Amino acid sequence: MRNSTPWWIRIPVLFFLIFGIMEYFVDSGAQPAFIKYPIAQFFLLMILLILIAIELIVRSIENVMFQTLSEEAKERYLNTQAKSWEWKWGKRMYAKLLGSRPMREEGQLVLDHNYDGIRELDNKLPPWWVYLFYATILFGVVYLARFHVFNDYDQKLEYEIEVADAEAAIEAYRKTAKDLVDVNTVILLTDASDLSAGKAIFETNCVVCHMADGGGGIGPNLTDENWILGGGIKNVFKTISEGGRDGKGMIAWKQTLKPAEMAQVASYLLTFQGTTPANPKAAEGEIWVDENAPEKAPAESTADSTTVAMNK
Ligand code: HEC
Repeated sequence: MRNSTPWWIRIPVLFFLIFGIMEYFVDSGAQPAFIKYPIAQFFLLMILLILIAIELIVRSIENVMFQTLSEEAKERYLNTQAKSWEWKWGKRMYAKLLGSRPMREEGQLVLDHNYDGIRELDNKLPPWWVYLFYATILFGVVYLARFHVFNDYDQKLEYEIEVADAEAAIEAYRKTAKDLVDVNTVILLTDASDLSAGKAIFETNCVVCHMADGGGGIGPNLTDENWILGGGIKNVFKTISEGGRDGKGMIAWKQTLKPAEMAQVASYLLTFQGTTPANPKAAEGEIWVDENAPEKAPAESTADSTTVAMNK
């Protein structure tokens, strides 16, 4: 095996090449394929064993062939084997990129001027440096054309796109981590599955005081526009989570219910709004107006809905 790479380079290079190709083609989501699919580890192990096996087979073939050689040929073969391997291509490339002339040619490079015995070698600029410089010029031209002539996009747009992406990612994350909601982030849920879950929670925990239709009993009427502790999803969530005023009987449900469940039951009980219960309890508290509701509030209103109509 004259002039070929030694096995300790050949095997790892081939192995990682196959590894990379496998990772590229196997769709394994966020995790690398060899972690997600244990079979991939087995596959890689097999590849490694096969590579080693091929190596061993080639060795033994060489060995057998060697035995068939004449004495003189054996010697020649051993001589070539003894030459230590060097990475010719790499060395040539390195010398080329450096571009320096060998020492013995320096005589031709010396410039005429001579300052107190100090002379100058007129070496060429190293090619790696020159190519890099050309590359920066090319980059500059493309950049100038793209952003200053054709106005592809500017930093503001780039920022906005990234913010939008991040918000979409947060939104997607919230969907998988529903219990992350709190009083500031809770939104009115409208999915049928959330509402029916909310209904079930309401019927187990809340009907004793609020009645199944929200008409009210010990607790106030939940069907009217009047709220003691503020209406709207944020206030209602807060009331459920933290409880009502001391001594009134509405406990803080955050001990019993998960944040996602409180959001579901809050969304469910808000569907009572405007319905007519069988035995409505008289309205208590203030009529609650959502300042953020688009049809009622002017667009420039930025007040937080939680600041509105708190009980006095
Ligand atoms: C032991 C009786 C009782 C139970 C059980 C109860 N509540 Fe209440 N609830 C009350 C009382 C009493 C109030 C009024 C609190 C106050 O005046 O501060 C109230 C108030 C509320 C309010 C605020 C109404 C307003 O006008 O501001 C909401 C919303 C509410 N409850 C939801 C629930 C939910 C959801 C459940 C079940 C998880 C529940 N309650 C279980 C007694 C109860």
